[in-house]
Amino acid sequence: MKKGIALLSSLIFAGSLAAVAFTASAADVEDSMKAMGKSFRSVMKDQDVASLKKDLTTFRAAAVEAQAGKVSAKRSEGYAEGMKELVAQTDVAIKFADEGKFTEAKAEVEKLKDIMQEYHGKLNVK
Ligand code: HEM
Repeated sequence: MKKGIALLSSLIFAGSLAAVAFTASAADVEDSMKAMGKSFRSVMKDQDVASLKKDLTTFRAAAVEAQAGKVSAKRSEGYAEGMKELVAQTDVAIKFADEGKFTEAKAEVEKLKDIMQEYHGKLNVK
């Protein structure tokens, strides 16, 4: 009986640890997405190539952080695929900004929005 109780308590303990871990990582993605949202708004507003480059770099860092966050098993494959695409597309925009090509960089930024819409849709983000 004592063994049974000990087993039950360790199961409950393991379960609560898993729940804490799950909640913490879900919050991570949410926080990183909020940071991405903030820097992306700046990117959209930028009217000169230097600010665009700076804000895209901030956005990229937030995206890389979000990429490392854990999502539910159901979302994980699509999430990994979409975040990889997003970071790669950010690099294309940064490359144009680096070369001083503002219009081209802005055109690539529009594609970031498309990727967001595509994956928020696929992953059922409300
Ligand atoms: C320009 C690109 C993107 C921006 C600005 C952006 C921004 C955001 C924002 C503001 C939220 C809501 C956070 C909250 O307040 O709860 C969110 C949620 C989310 N986004 Fe994105 N996102 C982008 C791209 C993506 C991509 C490419 C994916 C997947 C591959 C993705 C997956 C998610 C997920 C799973 C959530 C829900 C997070 C949660 O609440 O657990 N996002 N995003």
